[in-house]
Amino acid sequence: MSPLPAGSVIGILGGGQLGRMIGSAAARLGFDVHIYAPDDSPPAARVAALHWQGTYDDRDTLRQFAESCDVITYEFENIPVETVEFLVSLGATVRPSAKSLETSQDRLTEKRFLNEIGIETGAYEAVDTVSDLETALEALGARGILKTRREGYDGKGQVRLKTRDDLAAAFDAIGAVPAILEAFVPFEREISVVIARDADGNMAAFDPSMNDHSGGILRTSIAPSGLSDTIIAKAVSMGETLARETGHIGVLALELFVLEDGTLLANEFAPRVHNSGHWTPEGCLTGQFEQHVRAVAGWPLGPVTRVFDVEMQNLLGEEALAPPESFGADAVVTLYGKRDAKPGRKMGHVVRRTGRA
Ligand SMILES: Nc1ncnc2c1ncn2[C@@H]1O[C@H](COP(=O)(O)OP(=O)(O)O)[C@@H](O)[C@H]1O
Ligand SMILES: [Mg+2]
Repeated sequence: MSPLPAGSVIGILGGGQLGRMIGSAAARLGFDVHIYAPDDSPPAARVAALHWQGTYDDRDTLRQFAESCDVITYEFENIPVETVEFLVSLGATVRPSAKSLETSQDRLTEKRFLNEIGIETGAYEAVDTVSDLETALEALGARGILKTRREGYDGKGQVRLKTRDDLAAAFDAIGAVPAILEAFVPFEREISVVIARDADGNMAAFDPSMNDHSGGILRTSIAPSGLSDTIIAKAVSMGETLARETGHIGVLALELFVLEDGTLLANEFAPRVHNSGHWTPEGCLTGQFEQHVRAVAGWPLGPVTRVFDVEMQNLLGEEALAPPESFGADAVVTLYGKRDAKPGRKMGHVVRRTGRA
């Protein structure tokens, strides 16, 4: 596919805040954006040229969407793989491909794939029954995190476990579905590598940020991460391996645990722009959303030089209802336009530039 000229249509599967920010970046580069999402008036559709409302198995609407788009991308990793395969069978170009999607949708497949391509993770065991769980907990040192293989996010679908806990109740609590038990990783900090790969295989990684979670939800990302150049180079090289091995086109994010001795263990990856990269539009010459658009449109990647030290803070639930000026004169506020400020729901974020890089 040759580079798409301005005026072309970029389709996005999914209607959340990531689609809204990708869409805004695409509009700024002169593209029209079509959102495909099942919901009525989702955040992304309210800044787009058109909203195709349909479920992910609604073939008629998917067909019309495919016909209207020059390239299609996704902002949500739980889009069914069959949806992407159907769009491709109609002749649509979908970037990134179903490979990135399929691998990251299932925590077990994901961790096995990471290990196969030489990216180390913490220890883990597949769990399909309570008896698997007993054996796995024993094998992993009497402590671990039980997670559903599919569809978890923001710490949902997870329970922390010790041997004496009621394992049957824990398995029920996650819905008694296929799961994975992960050894508890005693990390010193968490970082992420947000990296783009273009259609020719060129790659550009943002400076990894240090990420703080609370209750499984990202609260802040800070760049620089404070890590040594050696560790940063190692992290970036893991991100590059992942982007290359999945044949990814677009942005992806690799979440890493950093141990006291500098060892890096992969936690998970997202085949899309990422919350821990929300500081990049304010902190770097090119932000992650524009970078993603560039990659999927077949444009060359932009420079990722970080020009500011930054701190990104998520606004959860009612935190986003505060008047924007209350965050400080130097705070750049982004709100997602979600109607309902439920506790813990990601409603927006604030970026503060704390110095020159
Ligand atoms: N094996 C683990 N050891 C220690 N902490 C973990 C482990 N797995 C997850 N966590 C903590 O929980 C957070 C959310 O877990 P994660 O697997 O990334 O799920 P989600 O898909 O909800 O982001 C992580 O960022 C980390 O802080
Ligand atoms: Mg995560």
